[in-house]
Amino acid sequence: MALFSRKKRSVPITGGPLPAHIAIIMDGNGRWAKRRGLPRSAGHSAGAATFKTIARYCNRIGIKYMTVYAFSTENWKRSQEEVNGLIDLLRGYLLDSKTFQKENIRLKLIGDFEPLDPDLVALIAKAEEDLKDATGLQVNIAFNYGGRDELVHAARRLVRDGVPPEEITEDAISDRLYTAGIPDPDLVIRPGGEYRLSNYLIWQTAYAEFWFTDVLWPDFSERDIDAAIEAYRARDRRFGGAK
Ligand code: FPP
Repeated sequence: MALFSRKKRSVPITGGPLPAHIAIIMDGNGRWAKRRGLPRSAGHSAGAATFKTIARYCNRIGIKYMTVYAFSTENWKRSQEEVNGLIDLLRGYLLDSKTFQKENIRLKLIGDFEPLDPDLVALIAKAEEDLKDATGLQVNIAFNYGGRDELVHAARRLVRDGVPPEEITEDAISDRLYTAGIPDPDLVIRPGGEYRLSNYLIWQTAYAEFWFTDVLWPDFSERDIDAAIEAYRARDRRFGGAK
């Protein structure tokens, strides 16, 4: 039985601990826009607004890390207009970062910044620096991120660092990922009705719990996060150990 209904907005007081780290695949923006006869970019704008709402909510209820998939290494295949729109949304968010300083929300971008404009890379560094002393939620935005690409970069770094084969451990690899220093996600949420990982945090999600919903990302609300957390807290995590 559900610990509380989808209508309520508070985190239940029973069950296991809250997830420290929630990773989200923000899927369904295009379909949300199409159903309204709007361009895909309108779906992404609505999705960006949802992202802010959910980040604020996670901060309020005491989640420590939230990692969102904003642009994958495969998303360059989309139209130039859509790609530019997504880059502009990131730019707007970074320019607005002072707002998040007030809310005590930290920021980190993860991904390969090599193909990004130098001014955007500078903006990322500035926003991260401005928010570095925040002690609330850390928001990680995956931008030009791909899980396989991340592992390729980590392997190159191992070679560059001259690490001998016998010293290549799981920690040595984790320390060279874009997410170095960030604990692995406890819970992965994918709205939008698809049931796949899409090259997202493939190393880090080895023991994550998964929660899927048909709700499209722009319609995703605090109630949905509550439902995902409720399901997570009712699960028995054994990390490969016996019951
Ligand atoms: C997938 O939905 C979504 C994306 C590729 C982009 C997600 C980006 C945002 C929500 C903007 C975030 C902005 C910031 C600043 C973090 P889709 O377009 O593939 O949807 P569809 O499957 O319905 O076509």
